[in-house]
Amino acid sequence: MDELSDFITDMKSRRSCRRFAQRSVPDELLHACLEIACSAPSGANKQPWTYVIVRDSKTKAEIRRAAEVEEYEFYNGRAPQRWLDDLAFLNLNHQKAFLEEAPILLVLFAQKRGAKGGQHYYVQESVGLSAGFLISALHQVGLATVTHTPSPMKFLSKILKRPDNEKPFLLLPIGYPHADYRAPTKSSKTLDEMCIEHEALEFAAASETVAAKTSNVSRVLNRHD
Ligand SMILES: Cc1cc2nc3c(=O)[nH]c(=O)nc-3n(C[C@H](O)[C@H](O)[C@H](O)COP(=O)(O)O)c2cc1C
Repeated sequence: MDELSDFITDMKSRRSCRRFAQRSVPDELLHACLEIACSAPSGANKQPWTYVIVRDSKTKAEIRRAAEVEEYEFYNGRAPQRWLDDLAFLNLNHQKAFLEEAPILLVLFAQKRGAKGGQHYYVQESVGLSAGFLISALHQVGLATVTHTPSPMKFLSKILKRPDNEKPFLLLPIGYPHADYRAPTKSSKTLDEMCIEHEALEFAAASETVAAKTSNVSRVLNRHD
């Protein structure tokens, strides 16, 4: 039981990280996490993803520059006010220093179809699952990331010279969290708001039907005409 609650506490302690320590990531840890990410379930087991590992500072700087151009547009006119309001708790702006600070940038591409034109199925779902596996694995080995989505992300295909069948999906800076980094306070829904026991719903619906029938019966019984 203790092990289970430790596991829950540990997984729930994962937070997105937007500041990284100047500490390199051991190759074997990165490769272990990538192996786990690439073992995720996928439609017809097509594994329709490509992870591009970027370490070189010139390419990271180029990616940062292009991302900040899109992010500037986003925060200064492109995003509807409601979206900006929803993001306010994160206290973000167009500046993305973490894209250069992080020792590794992983760029995840979704393969719309195979390199030779083969069919892929449920690409979005599959690539999202692989990213989830990756993020959990990184957390397990003490590494951190943030799923960064500057929009549009076409610049990543260009900078990294990716083929036409691949579409940028996520930009993931990876490293150890900076000692001074504190993730913003977030509010979360309760488990009951997100998870529903189907049988309990059926029971509640049935009870309501019985209650409705009973009140119909009592209305009939109380009729005086
Ligand atoms: C699909 C997706 C896109 C996201 N895009 C960004 C982003 O562009 N920039 C950013 O700082 N955080 C981004 N996030 C991170 C969320 O803000 C974060 O996961 C959320 O606030 C919950 O915080 P936590 O990850 O620390 O638990 C994104 C998350 C997801 C799942």
